[in-house]
Amino acid sequence: MPTTVTAPAVPIAEGVELSAVGYGAMSLAGAYGPIDEADAQRLLDGLLERGVTHIDTANVYGAGLSEQILGRFLARTGLRDRFAIASKVGIVQGGGIGKRGVRGDREHIREQIEGSLDRLGTDALDLYYLHRPDPNVPVEESVAALAELVAEGKIRSIGLSEVTGEELRRAHAVHPIAAVQSEWSLVSRDVERFVIPAAVELGVAFVAYSPVSRGLLTDRFDAAVSALGGSRQNFPRFAEANLAANLAVAERLRAIAAGIGAPLATLAIAWLEHRAAATGLGLVSIPGTRSLANLDESIAGGSLTLEASQAAELEAAAAEISGPRTFDPVWVSGGREGLIG
Ligand SMILES: NC(=O)c1ccc[n+]([C@@H]2O[C@H](COP(=O)([O-])OP(=O)(O)OC[C@H]3O[C@@H](n4cnc5c(N)ncnc54)[C@H](OP(=O)(O)O)[C@@H]3O)[C@@H](O)[C@H]2O)c1
Repeated sequence: MPTTVTAPAVPIAEGVELSAVGYGAMSLAGAYGPIDEADAQRLLDGLLERGVTHIDTANVYGAGLSEQILGRFLARTGLRDRFAIASKVGIVQGGGIGKRGVRGDREHIREQIEGSLDRLGTDALDLYYLHRPDPNVPVEESVAALAELVAEGKIRSIGLSEVTGEELRRAHAVHPIAAVQSEWSLVSRDVERFVIPAAVELGVAFVAYSPVSRGLLTDRFDAAVSALGGSRQNFPRFAEANLAANLAVAERLRAIAAGIGAPLATLAIAWLEHRAAATGLGLVSIPGTRSLANLDESIAGGSLTLEASQAAELEAAAAEISGPRTFDPVWVSGGREGLIG
């Protein structure tokens, strides 16, 4: 029996709601290891019966491949109307992670939306994010360009990824922002300082990416496989200097999880729900995976209520994490807010 999402869907804009646990489709393009088309389609086939009706992708995931796979799924099944589909614009592929560019200008946004709609085979996206604020374009200008797409019916709502609390407030003054997407997990908590308070105050939903910390916060993280390829080793926490210490942190967290009686991935999602409930934040988690069995562990977290003492025990162990969550502090909100050195 598949595990189903039981937490209520999160409304983010008129006529748009996201299932409390969504699916992060970066994994469809092999971000953390290979997956073939047939397995990708089987995985997508399993979402609806689990109540996962939100799918997150981006123009840059596999240089369009993630959107294309999703587009083939939607065309094959005719289920477009059953899903809230989000994509993103703004990251320009460069020579590898850390060497990527950012473009938030109107011309680029207007050009890129057409490619995303085409690859997904849809007339409109439910949610379209600016993937990163462009240091050379005021966020107000990027949001004004996105607002044109809303007016034209090409997108139903606007999101921002890895914006600071201040950038979110400035953007929201131009056009209502439906969702902010940033990394948030037991081991990546900088957003709790400025971004989440701003989101709560403005009534903006929070979409947590890398909620199981790229596999570290699970029962089956294989450091040897991780070292073989994919994007993970670009992140300081998975680099040689920090990996052994962080594997030990994960082991301690697994022991706590075993004491509670749930897989660590389940607790990682339950902890996000626990924190969001404490602040009145509308939360959506978007775990990425190539396996429905792994997705089921994450979905189960949406229905598990943690005791305050259990959350505190997990937080204390997770606080021992070594290394920043990013390869470049200015790439994420916490770096620009002076929280990540
Ligand atoms: N806005 C942004 O800048 C940004 C950045 C990163 C990601 N995202 C979005 O957020 C989504 C999720 O983030 P993410 O994929 O980086 O990280 P994640 O969801 O924290 O972790 C994904 C990794 O965890 C593994 N995993 C998941 N559940 C597992 C389980 N129960 N047991 C063992 N391993 C498990 C997956 O391996 P298997 O495939 O083997 O299950 C995969 O390697 C992405 O797909 C993307 O849509 C956005």
